[in-house]
Amino acid sequence: MTHESLRIIREEHAALAAMLRSLMLMVERGPKKDVDNYFSVLRAMLFYVDEFPERLHHPKETELLFPKVVNASHAVAEAVQRLDRDHARGEAAVRELQHLLLAWELLGETRRGAFEGACLRFVKFYMEHMHIEESLILPEAERWLSAEEWRLLDEAFASNRDPLTGKYPPDPAYERLFAHILLKAPAPIGVGEDA
Ligand SMILES: [Fe+2]
Ligand SMILES: [Fe+2]
Repeated sequence: MTHESLRIIREEHAALAAMLRSLMLMVERGPKKDVDNYFSVLRAMLFYVDEFPERLHHPKETELLFPKVVNASHAVAEAVQRLDRDHARGEAAVRELQHLLLAWELLGETRRGAFEGACLRFVKFYMEHMHIEESLILPEAERWLSAEEWRLLDEAFASNRDPLTGKYPPDPAYERLFAHILLKAPAPIGVGEDA
């Protein structure tokens, strides 16, 4: 049986992974005809990767799921410490990336390499983070948490408010933003005009 809370985590990972892959494709492709649209799509992608996990995804893991898993299985304590550290530094890393992108856009080609390198490292870091969660933490949770703990967790996930907007997830604003980005991104990454 799949628990609702795990289904939500996996679904959010899938959305994030899809966005990170599209981000890398955009960076590898580089700007062509419509440079303004190219940078605007990249900015929107980074905004999504900054906003969505910070507001919606990490709090569920760090505040709700992780403490229960560590409590049930000390074997994952070290891994959870690392994942919590990743959550804490993820925001600074993506803000830095947003700055490096602006530097490339506003100051020109000499700043392109710094952005590309940082972007590659960031995507790798993020994919690895999600992989540890899916391959180690979620199976461990499935193995050890009791039916009562799952009930509490599923309930907490369902009422996990976004502290800034007060809305309940899934927040359709992020789904709209996701769709908008793919509408604007050049094919084959999205379905937009050649940028
Ligand atoms: Fe995480
Ligand atoms: Fe996660």
